[in-house]
Amino acid sequence: MLEIRNLTKIFEKKDALGRVVNTINACRNVNLTIHRGETLGLVGESGSGKSTLGKIILGLDDATEGEILLNGERIDSSRHKNRTFINTMQIIFQDPYSSTNPRRSALSIVAEPLEMLMSKKEAYDKAEMILNKVGINGEDIYKLPREYSGGQRQRIGIARAVATQPDFIVCDEPVSALDVSIQANIINLLMDLQEEEELTYLFITHDLSVVKYIADRIAVMCKGKIVELGCTKDIFERPVHAYTQTLLKAIPIPDPRMKKKQPFEVVNNSSYLLDGTWTEVHEGHFALMED
Ligand SMILES: Nc1ncnc2c1ncn2[C@@H]1O[C@H](COP(=O)(O)OP(=O)(O)OP(=O)(O)O)[C@@H](O)[C@H]1O
Ligand SMILES: [Mg+2]
Repeated sequence: MLEIRNLTKIFEKKDALGRVVNTINACRNVNLTIHRGETLGLVGESGSGKSTLGKIILGLDDATEGEILLNGERIDSSRHKNRTFINTMQIIFQDPYSSTNPRRSALSIVAEPLEMLMSKKEAYDKAEMILNKVGINGEDIYKLPREYSGGQRQRIGIARAVATQPDFIVCDEPVSALDVSIQANIINLLMDLQEEEELTYLFITHDLSVVKYIADRIAVMCKGKIVELGCTKDIFERPVHAYTQTLLKAIPIPDPRMKKKQPFEVVNNSSYLLDGTWTEVHEGHFALMED
């Protein structure tokens, strides 16, 4: 469905005179294919370039090099920017509060993208139906974002994203700000919606344990580079790249006394292998291997 070819993104930091003082290679020659109906987990520690990749796919940022194809058609062009793809692609953010208007009710937040496609009355009727589907019912649909719990707010973010019936959704850390007990509810909701609406997900997270149940395949990103790609079972049972192994070790052991998972820290300056040969180690399981 979606093909990312040789995608590179370089951010340039400039001083007051416009001279480049620093460059950040946020994505380095990323090649990925996302199949229709699957959930591809994109994992890596903070700053590894996951959100940058997600934003470029959605046309919210430009790539420095490379191409993105949706159903064989290039979308990293000006046509993409015209939001012709509003029906095709959507995003769910970590904190829907910061991405919604605090003075509008849940109903009007969800109805907003629909109003571009249908009459106001139809949009509000449909928005109500979708809110009910994600578990926001009755008078609750008229509340303002701050009047909801974090989990409910994320349900509204999800309702807004699926309202226009997209094919593909980038979920950028959708459960990272939530309690572990609520995380499972939201993940189940996303999985139910995926089945009903035949959605394809790119599920971004720094926490491998979160994608264990939802992802069909996992891509591991380290300092802008995909270092390992395989089905979820392979990544968990026989990780090949040292970075993947470190991420797996960083999964905290469940402890009922711990309310929120501690954000893990991978030793940021350790030198993981980033140059090497992309090798198929098992069927459909690839990793960067030393030459
Ligand atoms: N607009 C920007 N201008 C300059 N640098 C940026 C910009 N956006 C991201 N970066 C840099 O690119 C790198 C990748 O950032 P990105 O947000 O993609 O990481 P991430 O994997 O999503 O991290 P996190 O898990 O913390 O969300 C970081 O070093 C970041 O500082
Ligand atoms: Mg991010």
